[in-house]
Amino acid sequence: MSKQFKRTLITAALPYANGPIHIGHLAGVYVPSDIYARYLRLKGEETLFVCGSDEHGIPITIAARKEGVTPQDIVDRYHSLIKKSFDEFGITFDIYSRTTSDIHKQTATDFFQKLYDKGEFIEQETEQYYDEEAKQFLADRYITGTCPHCQYEKAYGDQCESCGTSLNPTDLINPKSALSGAVPVRRKTKHWYLPLNKHESWLRQWILEDHKEWRSNVYGQCKSWLDQGLQPRAVSRDLDWGVPVPVEGGKGKVLYVWFDAPIGYISNTKELLPNDWEKWWKDESTKMIHFIGKDNIVFHCIVFPAMLKAEGSFNLPENVPANEFMNLEGDKISTSRNWAVWLHEYLQDFPGKQDVLRYVLTANAPETKDNDFLWKDFQARNNNELVAILGNFVNRALVLTQKYFDNKVPERHELTDYDKETLNNFKSLKQTIEKNLDNFKFREALKDAMNLARIGNKYLADTEPWIVAKTDMPRTETILNIALQITGNLAIVFEPFLPFSVKKIKQFLNIDELSWDQLGSMDLLSVGHELGKSELLFEKIEDEAIELQVQKLLDIKKANKEKEYKAQPIKEEIAFDDFTKLDLRVATVLECERVPKTDKLLRFLLDDGIGKRTILSGIAAYYPEPEKLVGKQVCFIANLAARKMRGILSEGMILSAENADGTLTLIEPSDKVLPGSKIN
Ligand code: MF3
Ligand code: ZN
Repeated sequence: MSKQFKRTLITAALPYANGPIHIGHLAGVYVPSDIYARYLRLKGEETLFVCGSDEHGIPITIAARKEGVTPQDIVDRYHSLIKKSFDEFGITFDIYSRTTSDIHKQTATDFFQKLYDKGEFIEQETEQYYDEEAKQFLADRYITGTCPHCQYEKAYGDQCESCGTSLNPTDLINPKSALSGAVPVRRKTKHWYLPLNKHESWLRQWILEDHKEWRSNVYGQCKSWLDQGLQPRAVSRDLDWGVPVPVEGGKGKVLYVWFDAPIGYISNTKELLPNDWEKWWKDESTKMIHFIGKDNIVFHCIVFPAMLKAEGSFNLPENVPANEFMNLEGDKISTSRNWAVWLHEYLQDFPGKQDVLRYVLTANAPETKDNDFLWKDFQARNNNELVAILGNFVNRALVLTQKYFDNKVPERHELTDYDKETLNNFKSLKQTIEKNLDNFKFREALKDAMNLARIGNKYLADTEPWIVAKTDMPRTETILNIALQITGNLAIVFEPFLPFSVKKIKQFLNIDELSWDQLGSMDLLSVGHELGKSELLFEKIEDEAIELQVQKLLDIKKANKEKEYKAQPIKEEIAFDDFTKLDLRVATVLECERVPKTDKLLRFLLDDGIGKRTILSGIAAYYPEPEKLVGKQVCFIANLAARKMRGILSEGMILSAENADGTLTLIEPSDKVLPGSKIN
């Protein structure tokens, strides 16, 4: 039997304050959690939605080191930037705080202390890499070396970013400290471990038996962890950035970031509701839902629940609807490689279009598998769905009411069968949408909501009030009354998804409060009610705006390729005689044009000092205006056997250099020389 709950605590993964927020964050965690929070509030349910910045851990110290500033500088900067982005996108956290707050440090310290006092930890001494120059133990990320699998030389102690394999620092060949470059030595160190193995049996029951309804990606990952058998996990680290370990022997050590961060959910609740926080965490009639990305599953489904259980007085989550990843134009989003659409940049380029992004990210949400964000798709969804369906319908209903009824809601007379059928669709879709929202199927729910707009659009197209108005005013009144009631319904159903647009629709309709229960009602607007002023709800996004974004990404890709560029290994040695066999020369370009019906080939006519010669070269893609090459000098191999391509005899080969991204550039002598000059 399913439990009866009185209120819902919604948590959204605390983002690391080591960079700004991008569309992957939004799609994976913050838009879905916000949809859910808005939906519950619209239903009048008691809801609390907490989040904050995750400000400890190695990612922060690495960012600080890179920039030569303190970790505190980093988190201060990104905490404000992230908070601002969330505000701007209408993410309605009840609190967005941070893990460097005093209340958090105290809460995390107390939590650790309580588990320590209860004997819930084991202490263990292990050998870890230590940097004798920097005088500190090295986190896995601070050790680099050669990957044993692919020989990549800059693999990290926890992962090889070239082949993707997870590593242990001791797997690396030729390990080096990223702090000082020194060869690290092994040294003994003591840490506290949460013996997850002791929690295995109740976790198995709780997840695998009692929560079969969890998303299959979440359930599957948990099952695989549990089936492999759980091991004790260290909950402390040798580091100077974090919450100090409060017990004997803890000097110079801090709580592991994955121990302190989820406690942030608790601290933030406490900060907001100092006197009332416990009912959100300890009262059994509170339902807790964690919204996270798939890389956080084990921490929220296994480690944090084990911590809560060990503490003894807290609830466990009721569901953990983790999303898969949103990729960007075919590649994994990456902060370090700048492969992302950053929210603050998006808003500069598309001011006021928060809902468009919210819409696209939900319509395409990675709920069951990784998905791709494509700028073309973004444009198509805006133009073909938001503008052409939702915007078009709302606009027509309002404009027709202005035109025929002085902007007042007209009367509704007798209904036709088609009217009734249209209204019934609303009632039945309401249940489907609720069911999908209750089950965290936001993508489906949005599709159904859009179908309601489609029904409205079709209703106006079929009933043609602009024609009926010529002969039958009472019928026109009925049609527009229904169209306006539908508009009101759309303002309800889209509120969780498109809050900015719904605010506008409400202004157009001149109504304030609507609740979820009213969805399906055809009496949202009373006869004679005066509507507000309206404008277009959405606007078309033109090709140029999209091309600009695509170009931006191409530029980033190019910059990344250059950063990662590694010169090719040198070819096998040759004898001097072999070299002298090559006749390399300079020539002047007399003519240059693209070979008709090819994308790649340019035909050069050269003055080689002796006569004229034709050479074909596969560089057309990099020289879109070949005529501009006339008069330039090129280097070429003069004694290469001629060969025919596309019916043209090519007498030699023109030399070019290859860039990191594979593009080619012609080689030119640094001063003008006579055509036919030899290259030695
Ligand atoms: N900062 C982590 C990440 O971005 C998420 C932390 S979630 C919390 O992957 F539960 F630990 F807070
Ligand atoms: Zn590798």
